[in-house]
Amino acid sequence: MRLDEECALSNESLANLLKEERRFAPPAELAASANVTADAYAQASEDRLAFWAEQARRLSWAVEPTETLDWSNPPFAKWFADGKLNVAYNCVDRHVEAGNGDRVAIHFEGEPGDSRAITYAQLKDEVSRAANALQELGVAKGDRVAVYLPMIPEAVVSMLACARIGAAHSVVFGGFSADAVASRIQDADAKVVITADGGYRRGKPSALKPAIDEALTKVDGVEKVLVVRRTGEEVAWTEGRDVWWHELVDAQSAEHTPEAHDAEQPLFILYTSGTTGKPKGILHTSGGYLTQASYTHHAVFDLKPETDVYWCTADIGWVTGHSYIVYGPLSNGATQVIYEGTPDTPHQGRFWEIVQKYGVTILYTAPTAIRTFMKWGDDIPARYDLSSLRVLGSVGEPINPEAWVWYREHIGAGRTPIVDTWWQTETGAMMISPLPGVTETKPGSAQRALPGIAATVVDDEAREVPNGSGGYLVLTEPWPSMLRTIWGDDQRYIDTYWSRFEGRYFAGDGAKKDEDGDIWLLGRVDDVMLVSGHNISTTEVESALVGHPAVAESAVVGATDATTGQAIVAFVILRGSATDSADLVAELRNHVGRTLGPIAKPKQINVVSELPKTRSGKIMRRLLRDIAEGREVGDTTTLADSSVMNLIQSQQTTTG
Ligand code: WT7
Repeated sequence: MRLDEECALSNESLANLLKEERRFAPPAELAASANVTADAYAQASEDRLAFWAEQARRLSWAVEPTETLDWSNPPFAKWFADGKLNVAYNCVDRHVEAGNGDRVAIHFEGEPGDSRAITYAQLKDEVSRAANALQELGVAKGDRVAVYLPMIPEAVVSMLACARIGAAHSVVFGGFSADAVASRIQDADAKVVITADGGYRRGKPSALKPAIDEALTKVDGVEKVLVVRRTGEEVAWTEGRDVWWHELVDAQSAEHTPEAHDAEQPLFILYTSGTTGKPKGILHTSGGYLTQASYTHHAVFDLKPETDVYWCTADIGWVTGHSYIVYGPLSNGATQVIYEGTPDTPHQGRFWEIVQKYGVTILYTAPTAIRTFMKWGDDIPARYDLSSLRVLGSVGEPINPEAWVWYREHIGAGRTPIVDTWWQTETGAMMISPLPGVTETKPGSAQRALPGIAATVVDDEAREVPNGSGGYLVLTEPWPSMLRTIWGDDQRYIDTYWSRFEGRYFAGDGAKKDEDGDIWLLGRVDDVMLVSGHNISTTEVESALVGHPAVAESAVVGATDATTGQAIVAFVILRGSATDSADLVAELRNHVGRTLGPIAKPKQINVVSELPKTRSGKIMRRLLRDIAEGREVGDTTTLADSSVMNLIQSQQTTTG
């Protein structure tokens, strides 16, 4: 896999990117009172470990760590290893003890319009009750608990209750199918599942529990299912296994003593797609993770907990929800909005109505959402009072300069800094981002590694590229919130991240340094597609397609899409017995949706009679991407049979 081949596409858009010459200085007022100033870079580069040791002191430790980093057995890191802390205590109790119990922690906005304000004191009681309830269900320190919930406060409470008792949570996105949930429950060997009857999605109740019921016919080991009543819809019930949240949790004591856990106690597992199909269980631990989630939230959003109202629109099922809805904001004592539903329910101004209603000051969302808002029209946000906003964030994929500038103009009134934050499930917290009171921002660039983080761009031979050149993004020093391993598969952890370049973490993203040395992200260099900010592997979709009796072979590519970043385009060869029809194509799309979840449904499926392969049998997705994006097909000289491309082109269908 050569970069020039894999990144051919990205490099085209890069040429445009680097023509981007607009610059935006930080607002003077923000710069004057910013939480973090330019000194932080100097301080961190002088002594990186001392810098992180100081950030760790932002937390409350039961036993203060004396050791910062143990890197004696790379790539297996230990941070603050001799320290002890309770993550939930840091996110909840200590704010109450500091006299801020009456501060709202969560303004919950349900999709149907119901709302709840939960103070830190109330959150402490609820987390304590849930911790007691989990213990009553037999969950002990070191166990795993799967969480499959809509975006409701109980999701936050469940995660914190696990953290409190030292059980690792494995949150599975509510949009995933029963099969996807089953494989994740099995891999993590979860003892208890927390779910709900359903949640609200596009104006209707959307059931969740049936997927758990189905998943649990396929896996063993789950002893109890704790069920939140959200929609009130009827659910199937397994006596002896299923327990209502409102019956069990509400009856518990609101007193629960938080035990101090080791800094390296597993905090959560979160699954991310891998190129070989089987999802990777990314393991994060406690002290280092919380240090960096907390510090970056404080630094990059300039959070002032007394006055800011923060809103991250991500789902809790993704890492953004973990680090920037739960652990970062709550460890900092923030007041935040949590919204259950979709941005167009009941109307396309819903997000802006929420910003206006709660006086949101910091908004963190994804480029795919921004592009959708652009498509819906400038007049929609213009109807609302968005003047409370002071910092805007972006995450999930490269943000194109057009969307960046639109975000700043139409949401930020041409005034607010935009922080384009690059990071990954694996990095646990932000790694590359502007600082809103320091950085002169450039539309489309995440710019510079945060203080204490070491990132660079290297070529195929691991040589650092000069300014103005592109290559692979690598991280050159361990960082506190780094993944510790892939759950149950240390070798895969080494192979995936630490083998491509000796001693460096391979992020899998292409990147370029501009003339100032600022970093521009170019997307994935491997075969993982990024659809609406979510990583979906081509192999996973291909295996799902081939899992259908009508399909013999398939190849899947991500084609550039104006709205979702990339759209999934599939090429399938049917089995002899099957015939091409619109019905079959619809059935295949639904089949993928059922197998992997709706987000993985191909936008387009082309039935073809051949696939382009190298002599060694490797599918040349690059050529299929050319077709999917309507471009002239590139170099076909390494194909086993070069006439195949003409054949495929003549067979292109447009079924969407
Ligand atoms: C991949 C990680 C980080 C939480 C959400 C996604 C892409 C993420 C940016 C950004 C360019 C970005 C990368 C990365 N990505 N943020 N600001 N600019 N690309 O987490 O599912 O683990 O995906 O998302 O390709 O490797 P994830």
